[in-house]
Amino acid sequence: MLTILVANIKGGCGKTTIATHLAAASAVAGLPTVLADVDRQRSSLGWLERRPEKAPSLIGMDWAKDFDSAPRGTKRLVIDAPAALKTRQIEDLVKMADVVVLPVLPGAFDEQATQRFLGKLEELKSIARHRKAVAVVGNRMRARTKAADRLDQFLGGIGHRVVTRLRDSQIYADAAATGLSLFDMPGKRAGEHRADWAPLLTYIDGV
Ligand SMILES: Nc1ncnc2c1ncn2[C@@H]1O[C@H](COP(=O)(O)OP(=O)(O)OP(=O)(O)O)[C@@H](O)[C@H]1O
Ligand SMILES: [Mg+2]
Repeated sequence: MLTILVANIKGGCGKTTIATHLAAASAVAGLPTVLADVDRQRSSLGWLERRPEKAPSLIGMDWAKDFDSAPRGTKRLVIDAPAALKTRQIEDLVKMADVVVLPVLPGAFDEQATQRFLGKLEELKSIARHRKAVAVVGNRMRARTKAADRLDQFLGGIGHRVVTRLRDSQIYADAAATGLSLFDMPGKRAGEHRADWAPLLTYIDGV
């Protein structure tokens, strides 16, 4: 089983969007997948409740109180973390994960929070010893903007780079509202947006 933790202490940076998409991508690929929601807001579980019956199925788990184990036979476990996490919870979740996906929005406030979170992660032994992969994902990016350049500079300055950039698009609001993902949606537009995800999926498959 491969465990993917989607986390950042910054609110609204795209954790649930990315967790639901990674879980859906894995279900579409035919892998038995669990989406574990640590957030008391239950956003991921709400998305799952809206998911059409015809769409490739996923198992949802409510981890707001306890981190239970995924059912036997699970191939992918995707964990959607809340913004407010205690250091102890971060440690426990990171320990479980094979890869940590860290969404970051362009902008000084988000960069600051991300730097703090990366600092916290690097204090953890498993990350410090490079046994754990961290994939930074630039979210809601507009190509060739100052903000995008700044984010690259910022990440370079702290020894990271983005694995991929997801563009800012209404399609993500549509996906959230319908329980779908770009991986379940037909049409050219969804196909174009799926290209943004390819580097991240390749990175995760390589872990
Ligand atoms: N690439 C994107 N383009 C457009 N809208 C986006 C994108 N990514 C996320 N959003 C929207 O931004 C809002 C916040 O995203 P999301 O809920 O995924 O963030 P979060 O980090 O899980 O937030 P929280 O900290 O509250 O859990 C949502 O309305 C979502 O639809
Ligand atoms: Mg969320």
